[in-house]
Amino acid sequence: MRKPIIAGNWKMYKTLSEAVDFVEQVKSQVPANDKVEAVVCAPALFLPTLVEAAKGTDLAIGAQNMHFETEGAFTGEISPTQLADIHVQYVVLGHSERREYFNETDEAVNKKAHAAFAHNLVPIICVGETLEEREAGQTVSKVSSQVKAAIKDLSSEQVAQAVIAYEPIWAIGTGKTATAADANEVCGEVRHAIAEEIGAEVAEKTRIQYGGSVKPANVEELLSMEHIDGALVGGASLEVDSYLKLLEAGA
Ligand code: G3H
Repeated sequence: MRKPIIAGNWKMYKTLSEAVDFVEQVKSQVPANDKVEAVVCAPALFLPTLVEAAKGTDLAIGAQNMHFETEGAFTGEISPTQLADIHVQYVVLGHSERREYFNETDEAVNKKAHAAFAHNLVPIICVGETLEEREAGQTVSKVSSQVKAAIKDLSSEQVAQAVIAYEPIWAIGTGKTATAADANEVCGEVRHAIAEEIGAEVAEKTRIQYGGSVKPANVEELLSMEHIDGALVGGASLEVDSYLKLLEAGA
């Protein structure tokens, strides 16, 4: 039985005081962690404060990116060591926005996944196709190759703990959601790719999220699908009420 995981990805939104307000309002209302894993992935600047604010609650804090090196001359970057040191628990890797605007490659995502596990961070690894790729019938090949590249040379235990987020790029922030059936089909292909790379037993344990215009109105149907174990949510994770509704749907 895979425990649902609902992760908000705030991207480059909110000020520090807005972020703290959100956590203060949400933290006592988060469903118990044995029912659903509740995560907020916040801008790096806010992480120490939010970790402190959420301490002792069932709300976990994640980062949106990190470097794969533990330290070094990498101006502007944040290391896995630094995230682990302030007790961040999750890190989003390979989000399509980072792949598109910051040249994050499959190889870098794989290095980051290894680095995450080396520092006890749970990676939320994003994969997904563009509209052009979907229309050209390349969805499965694109997503499968991204998954296999991302988990290359990870151990079975690590892949079982990893979270893969399937986010069709054309559905991100557009209001267009993949149908639950389509999303489930591709999440099933993600699981198949994991099975081919590592083994079927592990693939049954890995949690696969759907992301792309998830909101309270569609989350239940998405989560009811066989291969969808959670959601990675942008816009609808920014408001307290909406985020809590998403968590309730997962619990
Ligand atoms: O990481 C989250 C995704 O990019 C989805 O964003 O829910 O605003 O479409 P969205």
